[in-house]
Amino acid sequence: MILRQAVDADLDAILAIHNDAILHSTALWTDTVVERGDREEWLATRTAAGDAVLVAIENDEVAGFASYAQWRARYGYRNTVEDSVYIAAPYQGRGIGRALLVELIEHARGAGHHVMLADIESGNAASIRLHESLGFVEAGRLREIGTKFDRWLDLTILQLDL
Ligand SMILES: CC(C)(COP(=O)(O)OP(=O)(O)OC[C@H]1O[C@@H](n2cnc3c(N)ncnc32)[C@H](O)[C@@H]1OP(=O)(O)O)[C@@H](O)C(=O)NCCC(=O)NCCS
Repeated sequence: MILRQAVDADLDAILAIHNDAILHSTALWTDTVVERGDREEWLATRTAAGDAVLVAIENDEVAGFASYAQWRARYGYRNTVEDSVYIAAPYQGRGIGRALLVELIEHARGAGHHVMLADIESGNAASIRLHESLGFVEAGRLREIGTKFDRWLDLTILQLDL
């Protein structure tokens, strides 16, 4: 597996993984798929901010991606970032999410950030397990603050002190 910074040529694969998560999971709390331009802007904004957007390459294709960005926009939050990790369905459960998150944490440490947060739908056992196995601890749980697929969703917030 190769881990590297994402480039424009990765965006079709990133878009497919992102939209698959919108359509088939509660990882992203929206029902509306996005166009390529949305991901182009996302990559450009994060790259310009110095935030990591990493891809994992397996069999010459993008198997997954991970990224972080400042948690909230106000200046006082500038040392707190929120991560996101998405693996294409055929590649899940093979250690790729873990490898990406390890690299992402190192990048955030190197950039001088102080805390990394993960906001995870409380039923997402794989993502909660992945984060806890790398030292994230539960900082809180917000009940029924979201809805998708005709049910309420809880949000679990996990925190890693970098
Ligand atoms: C959640 C996700 C990022 C995990 O990445 P992955 O590559 O599948 O996971 P890994 O193989 O690296 O496993 C990481 C850890 O999670 C555990 N895990 C993986 N799948 C699991 C599952 N379905 N249930 C419980 N634990 C699971 C592994 O056992 C491993 O724990 P360990 O290190 O203690 O052995 C990936 O499954 C995914 O992209 N899911 C869909 C989108 C999503 O939910 N993204 C996160 C949004 S917050």
